Amino acid sequence: MTGKAILFGEHAVVYGVPAIAIPIDRHLSVEVIGSGHGPELAADCWKVAVRLDVEQPDARALQQAFGLALDLTPRCPHRIIARVDSEIPRSAGLGSSAALSVALVRALAGYAGESLAPDEELSRAAEIEKIFHANPSGIDHSVVAIGRPIVFRKQGGAEAGVDLGRIFKLVIATAGSHGGTAARVQALARRRQSMAELYQNAFAAIGQVVERALLALKKGDAAEVGALMDFNQGLLNALGVSSPELERGLGVAREAGALGAKLSGAGGGGAFLALCDDDPQPVLRALRGAGFEPFVTTLAPDGQGKALIEEIGQAARR
Ligand code: PMV
Repeated sequence: MTGKAILFGEHAVVYGVPAIAIPIDRHLSVEVIGSGHGPELAADCWKVAVRLDVEQPDARALQQAFGLALDLTPRCPHRIIARVDSEIPRSAGLGSSAALSVALVRALAGYAGESLAPDEELSRAAEIEKIFHANPSGIDHSVVAIGRPIVFRKQGGAEAGVDLGRIFKLVIATAGSHGGTAARVQALARRRQSMAELYQNAFAAIGQVVERALLALKKGDAAEVGALMDFNQGLLNALGVSSPELERGLGVAREAGALGAKLSGAGGGGAFLALCDDDPQPVLRALRGAGFEPFVTTLAPDGQGKALIEEIGQAARR
């Protein structure tokens, strides 16, 4: 199971605009094994373990998510340990909670001998994501479950795959934690109340960026995709969801030759993406030199994604 990044359209997607999400080269897995005691979720990678029979205020969301995942899988025995192994940092906008939600649903169903239809898997993961995100658009767990770049709309789910006219190389890094998606989304909603029209215009402009980006991705026009990333970032700035540390990382990436760069996800910290021409090394080196821990994700044209996405999209709309 991969994590995810939002290439275009975060936040505006909550207000009905389509967005583009991609899987990234960072993974999470959940393995369920039998145990001598009641259910336990062990995530050594995040230095946390939760049980359902003890109060753990510092890990309440994880505890609730695990409890709900078990409730959604009534045939799963309770004497189990669910071991989480993750390369995806938490609270960084890289889809750790979505990857955990989908992987937990799959692993528990697998252990219970249930085979899940894609729409059932998505709807269970959506319930779990609500614990982490309060009111998620659904983009995170959809792209993670599908494992391909998707166009996503809040009302329609994963609407289509993304046609790519060439390989695109993205450098991804994080600027600390974003402190929780729900808080960022709620703060934006409050700011919007006093400037509803301006915010609505910004969301509409982001929608236009997404439409143009789909064409540029299809044409394989990396320069245009990069320019649109910068444009999207400007609009995210207007919405107040960037941060000084994010802007520093974006500046370093652009100075090192990135074709465009933007934050990804809820903002205020967390992930950012830089699109590179063929060789990502200069951007990687510059970001490392500036104290970030970047990695590369490659988006490759893939003819198989579309049919799967259409099937899942239809299931999500039923
Ligand atoms: O959880 P994050 O940081 O990937 O942000 C999710 C994207 C938002 O558009 C900000 C919220 C949502 O539910 O779509």
